[in-house]
Amino acid sequence: MTDTIRPLAAHRPDAPLRGAIRVPGDKSISHRALMFGAMAVGETVVDGLLEGEDVLRTAAAMRALGAVVERDGPGRWRVSGRGVGGLAEPADVLDMGNSGTAARLLAGVLASHGFFSVLTGDASLRGRPMRRVTDPLAMSGARFWSRDGGRLPLAIQGATEPMPLEYVVPVASAQVKSAVLLCGLNARGVTTVTEPAATRDHSENMLRHFGAVVDVTPTEDGAGRIIRLTGQPELMAAKIDVPADPSSAAFPMVAALLVPGSDVTLQGVGLNPLRTGLLKTLREMGADIETQRLRTEGGEPVGDLRVRHSALRAIEVPASRAPSMIDEYPVLAVAAACAAGTTRMRGLHELRVKESDRLAATAALLSTNGVAVEIADDDLIVHGVGAPPGGGLVATHMDHRIAMSALVLGLVSREPVRVDDTAFIETSFPGFTTLLAGLIDGASPFR
Ligand code: S3P
Repeated sequence: MTDTIRPLAAHRPDAPLRGAIRVPGDKSISHRALMFGAMAVGETVVDGLLEGEDVLRTAAAMRALGAVVERDGPGRWRVSGRGVGGLAEPADVLDMGNSGTAARLLAGVLASHGFFSVLTGDASLRGRPMRRVTDPLAMSGARFWSRDGGRLPLAIQGATEPMPLEYVVPVASAQVKSAVLLCGLNARGVTTVTEPAATRDHSENMLRHFGAVVDVTPTEDGAGRIIRLTGQPELMAAKIDVPADPSSAAFPMVAALLVPGSDVTLQGVGLNPLRTGLLKTLREMGADIETQRLRTEGGEPVGDLRVRHSALRAIEVPASRAPSMIDEYPVLAVAAACAAGTTRMRGLHELRVKESDRLAATAALLSTNGVAVEIADDDLIVHGVGAPPGGGLVATHMDHRIAMSALVLGLVSREPVRVDDTAFIETSFPGFTTLLAGLIDGASPFR
């Protein structure tokens, strides 16, 4: 639960991290499985669903909209859908908690259903920009009322006969792309989304998996994509196997790279090429990460990653890589703090509108622990120190990834790193500290 404050400190462990673990299911795919399942005809069975608070909010919302969403056992869920356009007006406000993905994707769904609804969230989510979705969605005929600055709570009167959209996404955002596609599902005709830089394509993959016609072509310069979705398809229930989340695997991965003597295998990690920027970056820094048993599960590439302690060296991370590792910068910054030399990560403006201002929060997490760091425009510059001094108190600002990054930093710092509140880790990685501590032969480093 995120409403109880949970301070915690991370200490240097007595022993290296060793063993094999599977981190929880992919958050992006889990949200989509529940939403698309709720709009399909028949029963969708999901295995490996992330049972973190963010996804549970989506499950509750889809129930409130008339789908039957049931849990059979750990990670196994069943969704009986209402068909495209078949969702019903919710009786109450839909509270999406901390989850930007849930709120923004759902706005796309609600825009194309001719009823009234209200979206809200926690203090972090209520501070995040929603115009990036409501601006394009309004062109479908939906109407929106929000607080100043386009912030939640957001009231929506969905379009009775939604128009198909043609939209060029101005920022690299899979959430915006997906919101437009979800709206287009219930519009007659073809919805076209152009993204100047390719972002995670889980929506496109899963829509096809449910039987929709989705045509994808590269933009002229090859960097982006043009996605065309034929509206009002009959989505048919499908089986979904959710891979382990690469964005969650990032934390034990960096921990194993940094703690001397470590050798950890991360099982069944999603390796969609639009999500693997961190892997590429860490390998360029000298990380020993071996991909094993590469396979395809539920239409997504998946593999085991064997990660061994490595001496890392600084590199320059190009801005063009940001969409493929957008959630991984805080923990990459921790790796950079322990690397030899100065790492520069370019083009991080989108980090300012995550669960916290992640650019500022990442810089603060390092500087309060004795690591020299600078923000220059949208770039983050980290001066590697080998073993960081530590001893600082990290403010997480309701941001799960800042909390987990700080705990990883504590594993390699000379003094323990304290974190003001780790409760938000539950939004994406339930059991994080227990899973990591289980790799260590000795006392838990988190206490
Ligand atoms: C997500 C897209 C990304 C990412 C978020 C999940 C998604 O957000 O940061 O954690 O599932 O589509 P943006 O689209 O805002 O970059």
